[in-house]
Amino acid sequence: MASFGKFRWISRRFTAHPSAPLRICVVGSGPGGFYTAEKILKAHEKVEVDVIDRLPTPFGLVRSGVAPDHPETKIVTNQFSRVAQNERCSFFGNVCLGSSVTLPELREMYNAVVLAYGAESDRCLGIPGEELAGIYAAREFVWWYNGHPDCRNLDPDLKSTDTAVIFGQGNVALDVARILLRPTAELARTDIASHALAALEESSIRKVYLVGRRGPVQAACTAKELREVLGIKDLHIHIQPADLVTTPADEIEMKNNRIRKRVYELLSKAVTPAHAPYPGERELHFVFFHKPDKFLESNDRSGHLGGVQLEKTILKAFVGDDELVKQVAVGTGVYAEISCGLSLKSIGYKSIAIDGLPFDSDKGIVPNVGGRVLADASKDHMQYDTGLYVCGWLKRGPTGIIGTNLYCAEETLACISDDVDKGILTSNSPKPGRDGLLQLLDSRNTRVVTFDAWEKIDTEEKRRGNLKNRPREKLTTWEELLKVASE
Ligand SMILES: Cc1cc2nc3c(=O)[nH]c(=O)nc-3n(C[C@H](O)[C@H](O)[C@H](O)COP(=O)(O)OP(=O)(O)OC[C@H]3O[C@@H](n4cnc5c(N)ncnc54)[C@H](O)[C@@H]3O)c2cc1C
Ligand SMILES: NC(=O)c1ccc[n+]([C@@H]2O[C@H](COP(=O)([O-])OP(=O)(O)OC[C@H]3O[C@@H](n4cnc5c(N)ncnc54)[C@H](OP(=O)(O)O)[C@@H]3O)[C@@H](O)[C@H]2O)c1
Repeated sequence: MASFGKFRWISRRFTAHPSAPLRICVVGSGPGGFYTAEKILKAHEKVEVDVIDRLPTPFGLVRSGVAPDHPETKIVTNQFSRVAQNERCSFFGNVCLGSSVTLPELREMYNAVVLAYGAESDRCLGIPGEELAGIYAAREFVWWYNGHPDCRNLDPDLKSTDTAVIFGQGNVALDVARILLRPTAELARTDIASHALAALEESSIRKVYLVGRRGPVQAACTAKELREVLGIKDLHIHIQPADLVTTPADEIEMKNNRIRKRVYELLSKAVTPAHAPYPGERELHFVFFHKPDKFLESNDRSGHLGGVQLEKTILKAFVGDDELVKQVAVGTGVYAEISCGLSLKSIGYKSIAIDGLPFDSDKGIVPNVGGRVLADASKDHMQYDTGLYVCGWLKRGPTGIIGTNLYCAEETLACISDDVDKGILTSNSPKPGRDGLLQLLDSRNTRVVTFDAWEKIDTEEKRRGNLKNRPREKLTTWEELLKVASE
């Protein structure tokens, strides 16, 4: 009989049965988790899948990452909801791997576990002043405007400064720049969190700097997202024409990558107009070839950000097998400063390790081959951790759009199916699955939020939104989410 502290399952209830289903637990209900669940259910008729998430709400970054002014991107949640409503699937929200339940416990209760819990931390710059007030990871800022309950009280000060500096030029950087600069009348029609809308309505931010350590050819954003930010109403775009001069290495990069070429062309067309900003116009400055050097403390407000110091860079090309591999930014010892009271670090997310799980801290991923977790990747002879799989950002690192996770889930499913075919994964020794999990959680007084309970939250958010002519008004505190879920 397995036992976990005070909790003991009664093995009698789970004795071997020839027709017992294979029981799989998916941790994380974002695209990585839901695509995997969907594919497992389609490929294996006799498998039961439980999806757990630490939040009372499903859908991961589709709810808490995708920008509020991109409603069409969120339509994929209808597909994920159909998966959760499949009779062989259950969703258990408010269940956190690592605190509500440990990984060894989950593995004891299920035949296999698929980890898809994303990337909920941030790369840091590691430069002086990073602890000053007024500096946030873009992840926190995004969670704040998207109503994630962990950032309900972030309360960024948007009133004491007219300038924000964003580090990074990927799509997340563009999202946060757009939210800071877009007319709030347009945001008011979205599902942006009400507290964020109120703060943005009172915001005094007029200038946003998007700082890239490399050039316009290397900007990590995509064309559609760039076009959108360039098209914001009453926005003056600043790009230094000198930054648009390309080198032979840049030309090779553009020849090899159509997205890079398109982005460069859009930036070239947007080059600074001869006139100064009109009164009332906001400003977006693309700063290329500068890397963050230090955050500067405000002279007036102790402990607060007053500016950033940047170091000018040049690009060094790395060539391998006669082919350009990458152009890397190298400091030149020449510095520049921008005064600002708000800075957002949008330099990439990072996954978090969990007790008992192999973790590659350098890459910030669970070591794996095609989705099979490696118990030990350091030895010559690679050893798999049988019955443990990974998908999504935790598997590949924090890049890729929603659709990328579909292909990622297909690859992980292929490993699971292969292990089923080889008899490595069987239900010969039946596992308690959801009965065991619910029993364990009950013994710990965890308030599980089922999919039906999530639908109560969903209905209430839509009802409140409807009153204000908005698609939904998100519930943004743990208390409120759990209260509505249990009504
Ligand atoms: C700000 C932002 C905007 C984006 N916008 C777009 C867009 O417009 N279009 C697009 O195609 N792609 C977009 N993306 C990319 C897309 O969101 C990701 O590719 C995708 O969400 C990654 O899926 P995932 O399942 O790996 O992680 P996530 O979506 O992060 O899902 C992880 C889930 O795991 C849960 N979890 C975390 N820790 C635990 C734990 N310990 N126990 C249980 N559950 C846990 C989380 O609550 C979450 O629900 C955006 C990404 C970001 C960061
Ligand atoms: N609408 C959408 O489809 C959408 C919206 C949001 C996000 N997403 C996706 O989500 C993923 C994550 O996006 P992201 O923007 O977080 O990551 P990203 O695309 O990897 O961009 C990270 C940015 O940070 C810079 N950077 C990294 N380390 C740095 C450092 N130490 N100093 C200065 N700059 C540094 C990078 O510059 P270098 O290139 O020089 O490293 C790059 O500009 C991406 O795949 C993105 O496409 C999609």
